[in-house]
Amino acid sequence: MKKTAPKKSAPALKFDTNWKYDPAPESADHVVIDKQYGLFINGKMQAPVKGKYFNTINPARETVLASVADATSEDVDKAVAAARNAHSKVWSKMKPAERGKYIYRIARIMQERARELAIIESLDGGKPIRESRDIDVPLAAAHFFYYAGWADKLNYALPGKQVTSLGVAGQIIPWNFPLLMAAWKIAPALAAGNTVVLKPAETTPLTALKLAEIIRDADLPPGVVNIITGAGATGTALVNHPGIDKVAFTGSTDVGKIIQKALAGTDKKYTLELGGKAANIIFEDAAIDQAVEGIINGIFFNQGHVCCAGSRLFIQESVAATVIRKLKDRMETLIVGDPLDKNTDIGAINSRPQLDKIKALVKAGIAQGGSMHQSSCAIPSKGFWFRPTIFTGVAQSSRIVQEEIFGPVLAIQTFRTVEEVIEKANNTPFGLSGGVWSDKGSKVFKVSSKLRAGVVWANTYNKFDPTSPFGGYKESGMGREGGMHGIYPYVQVKD
Ligand code: NAI
Ligand code: MG
Repeated sequence: MKKTAPKKSAPALKFDTNWKYDPAPESADHVVIDKQYGLFINGKMQAPVKGKYFNTINPARETVLASVADATSEDVDKAVAAARNAHSKVWSKMKPAERGKYIYRIARIMQERARELAIIESLDGGKPIRESRDIDVPLAAAHFFYYAGWADKLNYALPGKQVTSLGVAGQIIPWNFPLLMAAWKIAPALAAGNTVVLKPAETTPLTALKLAEIIRDADLPPGVVNIITGAGATGTALVNHPGIDKVAFTGSTDVGKIIQKALAGTDKKYTLELGGKAANIIFEDAAIDQAVEGIINGIFFNQGHVCCAGSRLFIQESVAATVIRKLKDRMETLIVGDPLDKNTDIGAINSRPQLDKIKALVKAGIAQGGSMHQSSCAIPSKGFWFRPTIFTGVAQSSRIVQEEIFGPVLAIQTFRTVEEVIEKANNTPFGLSGGVWSDKGSKVFKVSSKLRAGVVWANTYNKFDPTSPFGGYKESGMGREGGMHGIYPYVQVKD
């Protein structure tokens, strides 16, 4: 076998880390956020039965944005009853083409209110406005457009079969892509003729509540979509409610396991989209600069709060020194700060508990012998922030290699052969996504087909499209969302 001697890397560039950008903040003046929000049940905003509320804050400033209802089991009862009634009396009986029109209308109104939605997403969750404006919101609308088209074509998805809806879907979503996850859940459920009760995450309820306004403005029959806010206890009450037919959950693997246990022995269907620890693999024949951009996007997109983040980087040994140098240089140019500023690359960490979790895992990475490098960027004094961080010299068994950090922290390992990297990449309890960078099509094909992961990107990373199914293997969950596959978990099929 030809031996590949490590290439000598060019001397490090002197990078100017003091680039100054004039602030370019998106104006939030026109955005209306109410002081207090109730629950969207049966087409109306209603006060919670027990009258309890909690605050959602702006993680970049630690200021309160609004107080939202804390739904109890009594509220869950009301929401499920409204959804059941709407399913049996209206939605399941409606001509599929008519259902499609409603879904299409939601998509159109989302587009009309795109700027407002993007600003609220960045305020409530901390993500950079460039991402909420260019990715979250347009992609959320695209999901409604896409599934509007499926509403009257379900028999084409399953030719020769009789396809009917399941009934009421209980849907629980996380805080990393609040509006987008709401769209992933609601759009296919409605297209297939189900009604829904959706619970957004407690730190990011505002865009889901705006979506409730949009759904009301789209004149959806009352009860077809119900949106209730609350934390884990509300989620538990929804999952365990006897009146629902299906649970769709995206969130942590720990909660996914609790839900799976709770549903064992019931006839409720479920899909779980859980954690990940993706391998992003760079071969020596890859276009290196392009790959460096892919590594940056893979781990620092949305502060690394991404279930499919490329959080384990594998670099072929011969190019490791070059890739790491270029990566460090590129990291120096990343701007961490005000999510509403259009210059910002990395916004605020979503919550203090999440920041604490990232810090604890980074500490463990150092304690277990990893070598840490962080960019030297300035970070604001108030709010929750974490600098772009990479680790080298990490063992396969290290916690930061095995556990989902869900932050801007990358663990780097090297490899020599294709077989070795496949083995290392698959040595994880997760299996959600992966990335392969190589100029050789045959190598890309071989590696991607051997990775035990639901999605594998080739020479790109973190690309999403409503036509493409998404979901995991092993502890990353079960079931697929997106594409035609995303319809199957919401229908009953008879021969
Ligand atoms: P989580 O899984 O607790 O929260 C996700 C959603 O589930 C929220 O809406 C929450 O209110 C709800 N929930 C919590 N406990 C529940 C229960 N027992 N029954 C039903 N619903 C419940 O995630 P958390 O605590 O916010 O984040 C912890 C870690 O989970 C993160 O650090 C990250 O590693 C991982 N995570 C992964 C996500 C992914 O998409 N893969 C998304 C969010 C978190
Ligand atoms: Mg918030």
